[in-house]
Amino acid sequence: MPATQETATTSPIGRKTPRIDGPVKVSGVAQYASDFHFPGMLYAVPVEATIASGRVTKLDTAAAEKLPGVRAIFHRANIGKIFRSIQGQGFEGISDERRPPFEDDVIRYYGQYIALAVADTFESAKAAADAVRATYTKEKHNVDPDLQADDEPDVVPTTFIPTKRLQSERGNAESAFASAPAKLDQTYVTPTHTHNPIELQGATALWEGSMLTVYEESQAIFNLQGVLAQMFGLPKENVRVITKFVGSGFGSKLWPWTHCALAVAAARQLGKPVKLVISRKMMFQSVGHRPRTQQRVRLGATPDGKLVSFEHDYVNHHAILDNYHEDCGEASAFNYSVPNLRIKFGRARRNVGSPTAMRGPGAVPGLYATESALNELADQLKIDPVQLRILNEPNIDESLGIPFSSRHKVECFELGAEKFGWAKRSSEVGSMKRDGLILGWGMAGCSWGAGRFPAVANVQLRDDGTVRVASGTQDIGTGTYTILAQLAAQKTGVPLEKVEVALGDTSLPEGPISGGSMVTGSLVPAVFAAADNAIASLLTIATTTAGSAFDKRKPADLAFEGGRVFVKADGPGAGVPFADLLGRANLRLVTGSGKAEATFGDPKPKFSTHSFGCHFVEVTWQPAIARLRVSRVVTVIDAGRIINPLAGRNQIEGAVVMGIGMALLEETSYDPRNGAPINSNLADYMMAVNADVPPIDVHFLDFPDKEINELGARGIGEIGLAGIAAAITAATHHATGVRVRELPIKIEDLLTSPILA
Ligand code: MOS
Repeated sequence: MPATQETATTSPIGRKTPRIDGPVKVSGVAQYASDFHFPGMLYAVPVEATIASGRVTKLDTAAAEKLPGVRAIFHRANIGKIFRSIQGQGFEGISDERRPPFEDDVIRYYGQYIALAVADTFESAKAAADAVRATYTKEKHNVDPDLQADDEPDVVPTTFIPTKRLQSERGNAESAFASAPAKLDQTYVTPTHTHNPIELQGATALWEGSMLTVYEESQAIFNLQGVLAQMFGLPKENVRVITKFVGSGFGSKLWPWTHCALAVAAARQLGKPVKLVISRKMMFQSVGHRPRTQQRVRLGATPDGKLVSFEHDYVNHHAILDNYHEDCGEASAFNYSVPNLRIKFGRARRNVGSPTAMRGPGAVPGLYATESALNELADQLKIDPVQLRILNEPNIDESLGIPFSSRHKVECFELGAEKFGWAKRSSEVGSMKRDGLILGWGMAGCSWGAGRFPAVANVQLRDDGTVRVASGTQDIGTGTYTILAQLAAQKTGVPLEKVEVALGDTSLPEGPISGGSMVTGSLVPAVFAAADNAIASLLTIATTTAGSAFDKRKPADLAFEGGRVFVKADGPGAGVPFADLLGRANLRLVTGSGKAEATFGDPKPKFSTHSFGCHFVEVTWQPAIARLRVSRVVTVIDAGRIINPLAGRNQIEGAVVMGIGMALLEETSYDPRNGAPINSNLADYMMAVNADVPPIDVHFLDFPDKEINELGARGIGEIGLAGIAAAITAATHHATGVRVRELPIKIEDLLTSPILA
């Protein structure tokens, strides 16, 4: 067998690799942000507004201040200066709630922080927070779920880039729709979703003179560093953010929230470390959510299913001061081949906390609507929904007029249909049965953007034969520690257990944000370049060290493979381990640094880069007791090369579980009386649990995307949640005859089913 084949089979890339951080997590050794304790540390608990609109006219803190162990009750008059931060270049200075805490006495949403109690213990701080009395002048709040777009200027600033309300247009969608032989015009609604990672958000702040250290579970530590530097008027290098482990984020931990600034300000005022961990209730109020969306989809088609027009008009709610855009059109412009298209959005201001990105932002609600519309059109035209999609598969990205870097969506449909047994589907509603249950089968496609963020990494080869790889990115539970180790092991030839990984600290080289499913894609070139540079230095050392086996050679004569340096002409057989070469040179280590350039945000891309996939879903319907269950899911994902199929599969499974929740359970409800997110706990905000989750059959296609990086690896963190709700609602219709266009599907909706016991 040739050596290259041998190397390929032993390569850590593409191998099912258990998480290297698994043991420290299951043994409780891993320290999450709120696990850090410091001598003299105080605890802070915020006081929440109990109205959704108005003004604080009086804060009575006297009773709270007298409670035992209380150090301070902070509010607008005594918290000290907290500046605003503005977005700079790239991922710098971003926050979704732009108003610093306590900046004015105006209340814009229920749960907005109006004061902060700090005490020796958490319990004392909580008692003090509860003892603060606020007097308000109330104004009428608006949490109306019916979303009509506000009249706004055409260009609206958002987190990333100013967005035009007319997002995309080609041909003349309106007239093509008017004259289309087949038409579909429906509106789909997705409710507010709360991210609900199990780990609560919080910050521990520590001042040493003008040096600030913050432990926070951030998905973007360098952005948080920049925000805090601005808010507290510090040089950036005076702020250090540490995030070693994250108990998931789903986007809610991407950009900083006001609790963090409060912890920092309180620590500054008191000269002590301060820890502030928010409650589950606060997780529904003040750390973002996916906003409610209302989306009108109009499709025009020929009788045999060729799309002639595609219109997607959507509105999302957003906060009073901020400008969050839920980009429901994320996939609409390139998803199908269609000559006439128009995507337009609007926003409706509500008295709610600022919305933010949530797993697959835009694409997830957007594809729920547009893929549902495709399914309805397929039923209307009596065309198989898989065939309808294949019939409208584009050859290029028709919105940008450029090719896809790698698009194998049709292969996803084909493999998914085969694994699911789709050919056995009988399309008539209620016509399929098993074990006394009515079966429903449905499917949908999905996609999610791919690309690279800027990333720097460094790699050290050490004289004990170990390797260290470092990048200031985060592992949000997705497996980034393991990916970094795999990449370093691949290039240096050492086994995984000899690779040390460092991440989650702004003292490290600046790594990518953990957002957009782009960490892995961004790290590949950075780590590979870093390893190459370390190896290049090693070869120079090998040729310049007295007594080295290579001291008469030139670096160009040498090669490095499997952890050994050898003369190219002699082959790897007689190589010398790098540890020996370092030892002879009296070097503890040699370091290389490497950088990935961003592709994300490229104004003139040559390729349209996305991951693709599809879901096939079976539900069972028991009409006598109106019981609907998801009984089977097949998901196929085309995400380029999968570096760790074990962690990859886990990402897709997790997303499908979240998708079952989205379709059947999840909804944040605002109480019209006081504007509060009323089901703000894990009993009333229902999420899918094990009992709701059937076997999930995940398949990855293997089409490396070399536009993203040399391994061809795109991201997989978010795509699995896109499309799944549309597949479930289609399966539900197939079983029950009920078309649900407002999520989640409720039992009340299904009681109208004509398919009765
Ligand atoms: Mo993800 S919503 O890009 O953190």
